[in-house]
Amino acid sequence: MAKPVAKPVAKPVAKRVVLAYSGGLDTSVAVRWLGQELGVEVVALAVDVGQGGDFEAIRRRALDAGAVESVVVDAKVEMAEQFVIPAIAANARYEGKYPLVSALSRPVIVRHLVAEARRHGADGVAHGCTGKGNDQIRFEVGTRSLAPDLAILAPARSWGMTRADCIDYAARHGIPVEATREKLYSIDENLWGRAIECGQIEDPWAAPPEDAFALTRPVAAVAGEVVVGFESGVPVSLDGRRLDMVQLVGELNAKVGSYGWGRIDMVENRRVGIKSRETYECPAALALVMAHGDLEDLTLERDLAHDKARLELRWAELVYEGMWFSPLKEALDAFFASSQQHVTGEVRLSLHPGADGGPGSCFVSARRSPVSLYDHGLATYDASDTFNHTDAEGFVRLWGQGVATWAARQGVVSGRSGAGRAPVR
Ligand code: ARG
Repeated sequence: MAKPVAKPVAKPVAKRVVLAYSGGLDTSVAVRWLGQELGVEVVALAVDVGQGGDFEAIRRRALDAGAVESVVVDAKVEMAEQFVIPAIAANARYEGKYPLVSALSRPVIVRHLVAEARRHGADGVAHGCTGKGNDQIRFEVGTRSLAPDLAILAPARSWGMTRADCIDYAARHGIPVEATREKLYSIDENLWGRAIECGQIEDPWAAPPEDAFALTRPVAAVAGEVVVGFESGVPVSLDGRRLDMVQLVGELNAKVGSYGWGRIDMVENRRVGIKSRETYECPAALALVMAHGDLEDLTLERDLAHDKARLELRWAELVYEGMWFSPLKEALDAFFASSQQHVTGEVRLSLHPGADGGPGSCFVSARRSPVSLYDHGLATYDASDTFNHTDAEGFVRLWGQGVATWAARQGVVSGRSGAGRAPVR
C-alpha cells in the first residue's frame, strides 16, 4: 500500500512583525495591508539614520495607518561610528564609485528591527522593498544573519499594486499619505549621502536634471579650503575644531556641497542582475574617502597599501551585497583596523566654484602627518640628499637580472647573437 503523502503545509505567516517604516506611501500601505490581508500585527519602526524629517509625525502616521505600536530610534551616532568609520577605513566605493550610502544604512536598520522584534515579542520582520533592488537583499540576508528564527515578510514584492493602486488603497482605507500620482524620483537618504533613482534618470543618455539634487547645489562663489584631521583613520576635526562624526559629516556635506561637488552619475550592477542608472550626491563621503586615501598614501608602507587596495574592493562588494554581518566582512574589518594605526594627520582640501554656476571642484592640495613615511632626505634632489646612490646600481642590476636572462634566451631561440637586441628580419 502506498504511504499517505503528507500534504505540504503552508509556511505559517508571522503573527506580529516589526516593519521598517519610512513614513512614505509604500510602508504606510504595508502597515494596513499586512493587517488587513494577512492578519499580521504590525509594530512600525522608523530609524533615524540622518535622512531628516519630522519623526514624531512619522511615528503618528504609522499608528493612523493601523500599527499596534510605533517606535522611533535615533541611530545617527551608531551609523556614523560603527558603519561610516569602517567604510572610511576601507575607502569604500562600490565599483570604484558609489560610497555605499543605502548599503550602509540597511544593516543599521536590521539591527534595530531584530532588537524591536525581541522587545515586542514579534516572530517576524517586514520591509517595503520591491523585488528589483538591493535593499531587499540587505534587509533579508542581514536579518537572517542576526536572527535566523524570524520570518521575513516583503509585502511590496507580492501585493502586485502599482503606485497608483497604492494611492487608491490608501484613500480607500483612510491611510494618511502625502504622495502624489506623479512621483519624480525615488530618494533614499542618510547622513552618508543621497541616492536618486527613477523618473528621467532611468534614461542613461539623459543628463540628471538639476532638480534631482539637494545636497550639491552650487552656491559658493569664492574658492575655499577645509583641513580634515584624522586619528588612526578616523576623521576627528575640521580646520582644527574637534567634532563628533555626525557633526563632522554634516558640516562637510554643507561646505563641500555648496561648491556643487560630490555628485556621481553611474550605471551600476545590482546584485539581482540589473544594470541600473544611478545618481548620487555624497559630498562629505567622497571628500572624506579621498582625504583618507591620500593620508594613507603618506603613512602606509607600500605592500600594506597595495594589498589593502585589493581588499577594499571586496569589502565594498560584500557590503553592497548585504553581507555586512558575515565572517569575511568581519575579518576584513580586523585587517583594516590593524592597517589604520598610523593613519594620523591632516589633509587640506581645496574647493573651487565651477564655471557659469555649474558644479565646482574639490581636491587634495596638501597633507602632513607626525608619523609620515615620507622622508625628505630620501626624496629630495637638493644638497640635503641622504639617499645612498651607490646602493642603487647593484639593486637595479639585480632587479633587471631576470628579464636580461630571458632576453638572452630570446636571442638564442631566434638565432640572433647578443642579448636583448631588437629582432632582425
Ligand atoms: N542603488 C543603490 C544601492 O543599491 C541605491 C538604492 C537606493 N534605495 C532606494 N530604496 N531608493 O545601494
